[in-house]
Amino acid sequence: MGIAHSKMEVKTSLLDNMIGVGDMVLLEPLNEDSFIENLRKRFDHNEIYTYIGSVVISMNPYRSLSIFTPEKVEEYRNRNFYELSPHIYALADEAYRSLRDQDKDQCILITGESGAGKTEASKLVMSYVAAVCGRGQEVNKVKEQLLQSNPVLEAFGNAKTVRNDNSSRFGKYMDIEFDFKGDPLGGVISNYLLEKSRVCKQPRGERNFHIFYQLLSGASGDTLTKLKLDRDFSKYNYLSLDSATVNGLDDAASFRTVRNAMQIVGFMEDEVQLVLELVAAVLKLGNIEFKPESRVNGFDESRVKDKNDLKEMCELLGIEQSVLERAFSYRTVEAKMEKVSTTLNVAQAYYARDALAKNLYSRLFSWLVTRINESIKAQAKTRHKVMGVLDIYGFEIFEDNSFEQFIINYCNEKLQQIFIELTLREEQEEYVREGIEWTNIEYFNNAIICDLIENNQNGILAMLDEECLRPGTVTDDTFLDKLNTICAEHQHFESRLSKNSKFLTDHSLPHSCFRIQHYAGKVLYRVEGFVDKNNDLLYRDLSQAMYKATHSLMRQLFPEGNPAKVNLKRPLTAGFQFKASVGGLMRNLQTKNPNYIRCIKPNDKKAAHIFTDSLVCHQVRYLGLMENVRVRRAGYAFRQPYEPCLERYKMLCKQTWPHWRGPARDGVEVLLTDCSVPAEEFAYGRSKIFIRNPRTLFTLEERRRACLEDLATLIQKIYRGWKCRTHFLLLKKSQVVVAAWYRRYAQQKKYEKIKSATLVMQSFTRGWKARKILRQLKYEKRCKEAVTTIAAYWHGTQVRREYRKFFRANAGKKIYCFIIQRIMQKYFLGLKTTVPSMSPIDNTWSAQPYSFLEGAHTELRRIFHLWRCKKHRGQFTEEKKAVYEEKLEASEIFKNKKALYPSSVSQPFKGDYLEIHKNPKYQKLNSAVEEKVLLADVVNKINRANGKGSPRLFLLTKNNFVLADQKTGQVKASVPLPDLTSVSVSTQSDGFFALKLKEGSASAAKGDFLLNSEHLIEIITKLHRTWTTAADKDQINIDISDEFLVQFKQDKVCVKFIQGGPKNGTSAACKRKNNRLLEVSVPSSP
Ligand SMILES: Nc1ncnc2c1ncn2[C@@H]1O[C@H](COP(=O)(O)OP(=O)(O)O)[C@@H](O)[C@H]1O
Ligand SMILES: [Mg+2]
Repeated sequence: MGIAHSKMEVKTSLLDNMIGVGDMVLLEPLNEDSFIENLRKRFDHNEIYTYIGSVVISMNPYRSLSIFTPEKVEEYRNRNFYELSPHIYALADEAYRSLRDQDKDQCILITGESGAGKTEASKLVMSYVAAVCGRGQEVNKVKEQLLQSNPVLEAFGNAKTVRNDNSSRFGKYMDIEFDFKGDPLGGVISNYLLEKSRVCKQPRGERNFHIFYQLLSGASGDTLTKLKLDRDFSKYNYLSLDSATVNGLDDAASFRTVRNAMQIVGFMEDEVQLVLELVAAVLKLGNIEFKPESRVNGFDESRVKDKNDLKEMCELLGIEQSVLERAFSYRTVEAKMEKVSTTLNVAQAYYARDALAKNLYSRLFSWLVTRINESIKAQAKTRHKVMGVLDIYGFEIFEDNSFEQFIINYCNEKLQQIFIELTLREEQEEYVREGIEWTNIEYFNNAIICDLIENNQNGILAMLDEECLRPGTVTDDTFLDKLNTICAEHQHFESRLSKNSKFLTDHSLPHSCFRIQHYAGKVLYRVEGFVDKNNDLLYRDLSQAMYKATHSLMRQLFPEGNPAKVNLKRPLTAGFQFKASVGGLMRNLQTKNPNYIRCIKPNDKKAAHIFTDSLVCHQVRYLGLMENVRVRRAGYAFRQPYEPCLERYKMLCKQTWPHWRGPARDGVEVLLTDCSVPAEEFAYGRSKIFIRNPRTLFTLEERRRACLEDLATLIQKIYRGWKCRTHFLLLKKSQVVVAAWYRRYAQQKKYEKIKSATLVMQSFTRGWKARKILRQLKYEKRCKEAVTTIAAYWHGTQVRREYRKFFRANAGKKIYCFIIQRIMQKYFLGLKTTVPSMSPIDNTWSAQPYSFLEGAHTELRRIFHLWRCKKHRGQFTEEKKAVYEEKLEASEIFKNKKALYPSSVSQPFKGDYLEIHKNPKYQKLNSAVEEKVLLADVVNKINRANGKGSPRLFLLTKNNFVLADQKTGQVKASVPLPDLTSVSVSTQSDGFFALKLKEGSASAAKGDFLLNSEHLIEIITKLHRTWTTAADKDQINIDISDEFLVQFKQDKVCVKFIQGGPKNGTSAACKRKNNRLLEVSVPSSP
């Protein structure tokens, strides 16, 4: 995945986006100023890493940068060294990959002075390797343990110094072991000489090892009580107070981290407890103080001042108090089976105490390393590959330098030596390997300084050992004297009292000191303590006392205290041991492929963003970086394998662009020739091209950049074209698909239409055919039936013709009559049920059932009516009959002639309206009229003069009619009926009537009567009846007309009736119009 990923990305190079130059080899012009300027420029842009070939220069940024993220790890993973901008990860990746892929053991050498960032760099390398190597539960556990060993060792082996708040006070070399796949298996840590003097005494502004402070700040109250400790730093003599707390360091939190790390690395709970007890014991030990006690022999003997601390310490470690107390007062010297016990004075007691503390602590530290190694060592015994990471204490120059600084600087001297040797050798070997001519280059070789220190015969360390072993009084001064004699001529040794008179007047050189010109500068060493420190003497009484402790770890740390194993041989001196282990380390490193990280500190203030030129310049000088660059450039400044070179510049030449088929070397050759690079500017190695001058490279780069722009345009153009074309093709393809689908769809539709049309046509045709057949069949059937019928008729005719003679000729007539009779019978029988009611006015009659009975039916209706009328009449009495006769007569006279008639039909004819017999008023009248009164009523007699009426009584008897005064009843006129000639009435609904008298008769003297009555119809009818009988006249003259003449005395007056009536009147009114005319206006009947 990673490889595929990197292949897909655009190839980048160290040369891209470069700030200054990423590789010093390319620096032009090359001199110290430009070198430092380049470093500064990059430092200012947060580029803390710069290459010299494959060496990484690392500037300490003194602040956290965002270039150590997991994303960065991924970025650098599996990338070529020069592909990305310089980074420590690139070096780690290169080392890891050549270990994994080329099976080469690697070592990573990190050098630089104290505080330059070596320890941080080593951690970055380890974390990178942990991140990129294999995964899995087991592997992760190993990784975690390897990484977590750091906090533990740093707590016990690091301290704050004036140079570095977290300065490593021991040298550390860690081998990480991998299997063939590149998965980590485990590791081995070697430690070099812990600066144990720090346990008892710290220079001003520095601290004791971190663990003491961490324990007191971070442990729980409970733990502290168990350890009999007090949280207050000031209670302990061994802890310097002036810088007990360090800015940015949280001791309590660190303590928790350390405890956690110890657990991860595999420390048991009780082991941790044992370790902490020893740490506490050291603190307690420092608090034990002595006082002199005079002895008889005049010597002072030391006594423990306050036994409380001693007691507590003994309790803590399970040591018998008296034994330890004695060991601080006496010293037993054994020589040749003889034991001599001498007393210790106070100074000696203090010396013994401190020696014990230092030994205890440094042995504890070594034990920790061993214990960690036990946990992290590779389990499998298979062959493995190794990557060593060396993080040793840096070169140190303090105000006051002692044995420790001497040792540390010696170690750095050796590392510089190996650097020089390996880089030069490597460079040289490369030229040889590539078959390039090699010209030697001048550089400072510090072998001479190493020799000054470690030479077996007259080296400083050898002489120190000699002094230590020499019988007689040995002091630091005698040692210096010896140096003064033996090393006087050495170029790098300086001493005031040496044979070399050069320094006699050098006042910067105190008498008790010597000075060595190290590769990294001159260091002034104070000889005081050299002998003691080298001897590293611990009185046997003390080690034996420790061995007697019940504390299990304590016993382990002091095996020489075992009385059974008394070894009378002197123990090896510290210097000797160190020299041996450094020697071993160097041999080890030489077997591995070296990778260098050269750390530089930019300032002395531990501050970010500050770049002190002079300080950097100094480091650049002593680290020999300029020489490094020069050596690197001596022959050729730049080299690159043919393939990447061709890959990078192939666009500069037509033949090689875009592909060169053939060996890369030939391609590069063609390319460089084409670019007309002068032949002396480059050389062809076996696998690499060597370019002499950086300028040539830059020219190539410049041309490449220009070319890339053109190429970008080209790519853009082609890409755009490609994109458009693809798009077009896609459209075309889609169009075809769409069209195909559409056509299919259309065809489908068309087909369906045709199909349904066909079906319709088919069904029509079928229907038509079927109907045709049906018609045919029906016709055939009818024919058959017709034939049958015809046949039947014909047969019938035949038969009838045959049999006619056997029937009577009139049978049909009879049958007819019978049927008619039957019908008639049925009709008459039916009438019984349908006859209407007996009421003569009922008009209903059933409808005729047969038209031939029409006449009979109407006749029957008439007959029935007559019959029921007769029946009805039969029921009448005589009176009623008379009444009806009268009514009938009225009808005969007036019906359809006078408009007044219909309203009279329903009025019964009362006759005597006045009840004349009963009314006494008319008694006289009654008596005057002898005959029976047929009618008596009040009428109005119309006056001819004005047409107004005046009321008169009208009486009708059998022979007369009488007019009498209404009030008096006096008869005015009595006319015998035969004198009456005619009666005139109008056709309208008025009550006027005129009685015309026979001319010449007695009654006619006064003229005719024009009367008006309400009961006109009754009066006229009765008059007519009576008159008819009286006059025996067949023809009675009743004149009905709207205009008639009336005889008044002499004159005839015309009475005229007008329809339209008087105004606002309901009854008719008479009006005289002139002498001859009376006009009656009759209201039009409603
Ligand atoms: N890469 C880095 N990024 C940030 N800070 C760093 C880096 N390297 C070093 N330092 C700072 O510098 C201090 C000293 O570094 P250290 O590695 O302990 O120096 P040395 O081991 O060389 O004495 C560290 O405590 C840290 O604060
Ligand atoms: Mg360090």
